[in-house]
Amino acid sequence: MEGDRQHPAPAAPPGEHLQLLLRRSQEAKNCAYCPYSRFPVGAALLTASGEIFSGCNVENACYSLGVCAERTAIQKAISEGHTSFRAMAITSDMRDTFIVPCGACRQVMREFGTDWDVYLTKADGSYIVKRLEELLPLPFGPEDLKKV
Ligand code: THU
Repeated sequence: MEGDRQHPAPAAPPGEHLQLLLRRSQEAKNCAYCPYSRFPVGAALLTASGEIFSGCNVENACYSLGVCAERTAIQKAISEGHTSFRAMAITSDMRDTFIVPCGACRQVMREFGTDWDVYLTKADGSYIVKRLEELLPLPFGPEDLKKV
């Protein structure tokens, strides 16, 4: 795809953290609670301070209460006092397709800036990387609330 940085890419922002970030997203997927969709997803979020918070999707018998892996990871990081992020890796069991975050997750990610990278993987660990601003063009964010 044009504009994608294909693996092996210069692992610019996460640097030496990238392999660990990818592995942590795979490990998180193993904890997915998804008895309804049977579509496990894992995410791992690298903070500006170099810590990693992982998350999985957590579904519910009341289907609409299910939470995606990406938002689980973000909520874990925020609730531990981290609000500045460098990268996120996302993993699913899809062999031929890079997992992409849903629209709700893109908006929640954008709340915490547009200047970070999202690694979209296939089940074998291959990946493409997208800037958040690519995933959510023309975003509405916290800065807009100050413009009235
Ligand atoms: N899901 C995620 O956790 N992240 C994504 O990027 C896509 C979808 C979850 C939500 C639901 O639990 C299941 O995958 C099927 O949609």
